Amino acid sequence: MLNFAAAQQPLPPEPRTPSLLVGAAWYPEQWPESRWEADLVLMEQAHIHLVRIGEFAWSTMEPSEGNFQLDWLQHAIRAAEKHHIVVVLGTPGAAPPAWLTQKYPETLRTKEDGRKDEHGNRQQFDWSSPKYREFVVRVTERMAQRFGHDPDVIGWQVDNEYATESYGDSTRAQFQQWLQAKYKTLDNLNRRWTTAYWSETYQSWDQIPIEETYGNPGLLLNWKEFVSDTWRSYQRVHLDAIHKYAEPRQKITTNMMGWFDAYDHYTVAQDLDFASWDDYVGRGHLDLARNGAAHDLTRGFLRKNFWVMETQPGFVNWSPNNTALDKGEVRAMAWHAIGHGAEAVEYWQWRSALNGQEQYHGVLVGADGTPVPLYAEVQQLGADFEKAAPTLTGTTVHSDIAILQDYPSRWAIDWQRHNKSFDPVSDAIVPWYAALRNQTHSVDMIADTAPLAPYKLVVAPALNLLTPAAVANLVGYVRGGGHLVLTQRSGMKDADNSLYTQRQPGPITELLGARVEQWYALEDAVPVEGQWGSSKSPKWAEQLGVTAKDTEVLMRYGKSNGWLDDQPAAVTHRVGAGRITYIGAALEPLAMNSAARWMLSTSGVTLVMPDLPQGVDLAVRSGGGKSVYILTNYDAAAQTIALPHAMTDVLTGSTASSITLPQYGIAVLR
Ligand code: GAL
Repeated sequence: MLNFAAAQQPLPPEPRTPSLLVGAAWYPEQWPESRWEADLVLMEQAHIHLVRIGEFAWSTMEPSEGNFQLDWLQHAIRAAEKHHIVVVLGTPGAAPPAWLTQKYPETLRTKEDGRKDEHGNRQQFDWSSPKYREFVVRVTERMAQRFGHDPDVIGWQVDNEYATESYGDSTRAQFQQWLQAKYKTLDNLNRRWTTAYWSETYQSWDQIPIEETYGNPGLLLNWKEFVSDTWRSYQRVHLDAIHKYAEPRQKITTNMMGWFDAYDHYTVAQDLDFASWDDYVGRGHLDLARNGAAHDLTRGFLRKNFWVMETQPGFVNWSPNNTALDKGEVRAMAWHAIGHGAEAVEYWQWRSALNGQEQYHGVLVGADGTPVPLYAEVQQLGADFEKAAPTLTGTTVHSDIAILQDYPSRWAIDWQRHNKSFDPVSDAIVPWYAALRNQTHSVDMIADTAPLAPYKLVVAPALNLLTPAAVANLVGYVRGGGHLVLTQRSGMKDADNSLYTQRQPGPITELLGARVEQWYALEDAVPVEGQWGSSKSPKWAEQLGVTAKDTEVLMRYGKSNGWLDDQPAAVTHRVGAGRITYIGAALEPLAMNSAARWMLSTSGVTLVMPDLPQGVDLAVRSGGGKSVYILTNYDAAAQTIALPHAMTDVLTGSTASSITLPQYGIAVLR
């Protein structure tokens, strides 16, 4: 029988779009308005519900100084609305118009060699220029005034891929003022940078240069911090301009770039509503560990779900060889992002511009205006997202394990690698991530000052530089009962990028009950053996020394350079209910997996689906009483997976307790 009381309740408004979005970067300014409808029909047919527009369109929005032309944007938004497509508006600062930089040359960036950049490419602006900021604020305010209440504008992207700094005199003067505000006196700066070395001592602030790669380590670190703060303040003026007019419902982000490290992403991300990144493979195929870790890194900036603002429709144009992803791999890659906490996946770009620098880049619609073969795969993805959205709404990744990632530590190692081939991301962060994630199917990647209490295990690969706040956080975690694992090169430098006066790991040496006696850059891998089996340490080895009676040696080096022979390579020390472990050797994958297994069992982490067949990736998202398993088979052969209990695949509607997936096959299970 009908319940009339209930039937009279007003229904909640229909959401304008599903909560998982497939999108495309669309450039209506490059096409006659008469063509837009055809593009939007094709988008709608592919279940594309999101477009990002405007981020390079300054010369169309403001063709001459103060002459704002935003009607075309309004038309584009209304045309998209008719096809149930919502909009993210890009502010256009990454591509200033020619009139601007010609009339105000101080807005052009100065390159490292002292020459001015010029018009004809993009990112030619000076991010520290007050004049440039006046112009970006003005155009952004105009956009926000016009579209800040538009129901179809759901968000904003500030600029595009912050990347290039400027090295001119005015930037240098700002850097010197920034240093003065931080260090107060030159005596303080000189002492903390040990400038007596090579007579670097400064007598006045204006003597301090900009150094990017080979300079005093204190100066190098401070320049990077200044660069990060300056991106933050450049972003701030945009945020203020948008907030002045726009409804808070319109969320603001900027598109970051995974492992890119030109600035500290934690500094910049803290002011955003959500994080997003541009996920490109370039040449070859999806690397699950490296790419998965970059997703988790991005999720860690604000410790919540994020967007993939751009990704490749098959191939790019900027690799040495721009090979295409396999048939099925583009869809699998999008699901890989969702598994790690993405809520939107957007293809760059919709259709090839007829001219311009990127004519060969992958697209969904060719220069002729008709779909390319990949279009059908994205259409299938769009249908997937519509089916799975209700199930995934309100879910995210919850992990018992955190990996710590720190920009100053990466910079500090990269400036003085000591072994040129030692890369902190490829040789420390990603291998440890891979070993842990392969067994647990979820890992958080966070800053060393983020709250650690929720985690049973915290692993800090190559955490070279430890600030007092990080030290307090790590020590508090161990004393509170957590298990902290530090790996090679950790705990060497302080907040000024100076060497600690204790051996590694610096201020936490006592807690460890051991220390690094000496580090060695290696030409040939050295043998290492013990609790985690036999392995070899390539590139780098640290000879450990035990200083407390109850510190346990887990691994020892075999015969190598004499110095390392039979010396401790990994140690562990219980601290009350907590534990701290230091691993001075790198390990080959087998031993690394066994080390990860040991870490997980020592820390009491329970494993979900521990025995997946080769090439099968599992991601788990949960929330609101739901647990959703996303399974993908990357192996060339079909794989059969036994499920913990009968589950329903929301993509096919079928329920079973085992599932067979072909290569790039996906199941989204409840
Ligand atoms: C991104 C950029 C896009 C486009 C794309 C090509 O880095 O944000 O505008 O150039 O690369 O892969």
